Amino acid sequence: MRVCVVGTGYVGLTTGVSLAFLGHDVTCVDLDRAKVDLLSGGRSPIYEPHMDALLADAADRLTFTTDYAEAVPDADVVFIAVQTPSLPDGNPDLRYLRSAAESVGRHISGEFTVVVNKSTVPIGSSNWVDSILRESFERTHERRSDGEFSVASNPEFLRQGAAIQDTLYPDRVVVGSDNPRSLDVLNRLYRTLLNQTFTPPTYLPRPAGLGAVPMVSTDLASAELIKYAANAFLALKISFANEIGQLAGRVGADISQVTRGIGLDTRIGPRFLQPGIGWGGSCFGKDTAALIATGAEYHHEMPIVTAARTVNQLQRRLVVDRLLEELRILKGRRIGLLGLAFKPDTDDLRDAPALDIARMLAERGARIRLHDPVAAERFRLEQPELAEHLTGDVEDVFDDSDAVVLVTEWKQYLDLDWGKLASLMRTPVILDGRHTLDRDRLTKLGYRYLSVGGR
Ligand code: UDX
Repeated sequence: MRVCVVGTGYVGLTTGVSLAFLGHDVTCVDLDRAKVDLLSGGRSPIYEPHMDALLADAADRLTFTTDYAEAVPDADVVFIAVQTPSLPDGNPDLRYLRSAAESVGRHISGEFTVVVNKSTVPIGSSNWVDSILRESFERTHERRSDGEFSVASNPEFLRQGAAIQDTLYPDRVVVGSDNPRSLDVLNRLYRTLLNQTFTPPTYLPRPAGLGAVPMVSTDLASAELIKYAANAFLALKISFANEIGQLAGRVGADISQVTRGIGLDTRIGPRFLQPGIGWGGSCFGKDTAALIATGAEYHHEMPIVTAARTVNQLQRRLVVDRLLEELRILKGRRIGLLGLAFKPDTDDLRDAPALDIARMLAERGARIRLHDPVAAERFRLEQPELAEHLTGDVEDVFDDSDAVVLVTEWKQYLDLDWGKLASLMRTPVILDGRHTLDRDRLTKLGYRYLSVGGR
């Protein structure tokens, strides 16, 4: 099929490249000329495992352009995957979505086109996109639209760092539309993915035991709500683990053992119970805020989602409290942070706990040293006021330090020569913000091991 993807951010690019890999002819539109040039040269503007390889594999069926006219008129399916950043009131900023929908509406031709909203948008937005498309189409063509297009919602559940894995081997595909013809088109578009009949890339084999992927076909509003509900549920799972972790610390229990014990109950499941300094990133904070804002519009309070956010903010403060308790004074103390990205395998710093923690420590007069194997350069650009604390040498983080905090559990940190590093520190205090280091081993190496809750 012929596919157009508007927006080459995380979601758009992954969608476009994956659909081309699956055999569709894909044109990606982005107004950013520099990005389009980079992608046309086979290079990805985002750091994402396997993206460059998949770009190369799909190159024959993949085009990048800044011109809607080259991409929209022939497309059977147009995905809109533009950013929807949060406004101060928690609602997403829909201006990019509006202008993308206007441009698509101008270029849609006479053939039936499914316009799929892939951006995470408040419930009801697909109707709004439909009205913008219609107005734009009618203004351009000077006639009423007559079934040339239909809007569908196809929310994305990919994780950064595992975006391609999650796209090629999803747990489910959710498509929402009030038009059966659209559902049929999307069913055909995803057929080889749903049946898992495509040949997997050599560098990303199909997970053992993965069978057919279920497709959940819904009405528009349900598909939109599924996206928010899924992210909010994952966020509250983590916050729940962290809340129990605080209690575990007080009663002398080990939170890692507790989460393992509860996660083996198949009704609960083991994933997203990893305790620590909590969630960050572009989705959980934004989507929980948007869900609460939608609730407020309907005079519906959402105390559970609100509490998940409160607990998450508390976890960041606990890092400072724990260090204060241990070191008594933070002013003048040298404290190193390992990891700045909101999680490993990405250079994304959006809502990264490290930003709040670094700021809180700096405000208290601590002398901080910051390290990240991948996100340091982005940090330098995006956080100029903290950039002077960056170091490219992980030993600097330990050298003469009073404490080191593991903020992001990059694999290379787990493999460090911890014995040697302890000898560099003034006082070998390690605060394991992710419950991921080997407590017994570090204690034997002379560290004082601390965590945020749960022993
Ligand atoms: C998330 C959702 O997983 C994805 O389905 C959605 O489409 C977008 O939002 P992402 O933000 O890329 O994906 O990251 P994810 O791997 O979910 O991690 C989010 C945050 O939660 C990270 O900061 C991570 O460190 C934290 N986390 C995750 C925990 O603290 N504990 C866990 O058990 C899991």
